[in-house]
Amino acid sequence: MLQDVPTPTLRQASSCVLETERLMLRTPTLADVKAIARLADDRRIAENTRRLPHPYLLDHGVEFVRTVANDRRETVFLIEYNYTPIGVVGVDWREPDAPELGYWLGVEHWGRGFATEAARAVIDFTFEEFDVGHLISGARVANPASRNVLEKCGFQWSGVELHRFEALGSSTPVDCFRLSRSVWSSLKNWGSSTRRVR
Ligand SMILES: CC(C)(COP(=O)(O)OP(=O)(O)OC[C@H]1O[C@@H](n2cnc3c(N)ncnc32)[C@H](O)[C@@H]1OP(=O)(O)O)[C@@H](O)C(=O)NCCC(=O)NCCS
Repeated sequence: MLQDVPTPTLRQASSCVLETERLMLRTPTLADVKAIARLADDRRIAENTRRLPHPYLLDHGVEFVRTVANDRRETVFLIEYNYTPIGVVGVDWREPDAPELGYWLGVEHWGRGFATEAARAVIDFTFEEFDVGHLISGARVANPASRNVLEKCGFQWSGVELHRFEALGSSTPVDCFRLSRSVWSSLKNWGSSTRRVR
């Protein structure tokens, strides 16, 4: 649980850089605000994320970067491809027993497997760094792309709940998902088998 993790570990974690085959995940800074605001200012993103405002102004980007720097309740990474920001992925620890994975990508970067690649890196990081039993996440029932990302990361459907989405100004049904440490560990250890012809 988050409260059991010594503070220095959390601090170090928030300044970690994660690298995947194609992506680099790092802490966003004020120098990234313009890029973040340009990517995030799209209704197709806001309508599928709970707290992203629309329109997304530079001030929202500044507030986001400052919150990430000061708030211990979120572990947030800017996703870079070819040294250029393409989106954001993170874990919200508001409920310490149920940390929640969230992500969004600029629309021009959809459909290339980037969200799955970034989500897997953050899932590995979370289970490796923190003593947590499971992660949760959610996707609007009208968001098959995000459902696919979660399923490709090993998340299992756990039900439907109504959640408020800021940009919609209302609540909407969300498919809820859960990834237990045991499922994650099993997937990570699923080695390849060999077939012998007798
Ligand atoms: C959800 C989102 C992050 C996906 O990003 P992405 O990089 O395109 O995702 P990936 O390419 O890793 O995977 C998407 C999968 O969904 C599939 N998909 C995409 N659109 C689809 C659709 N309309 N219907 C069914 N499947 C769809 C893709 O084919 C892919 O599956 P595949 O690899 O098996 O082919 C991106 O669309 C986004 O930012 N949306 C707005 C914000 C959002 O929804 N955030 C998630 C809420 S927590």
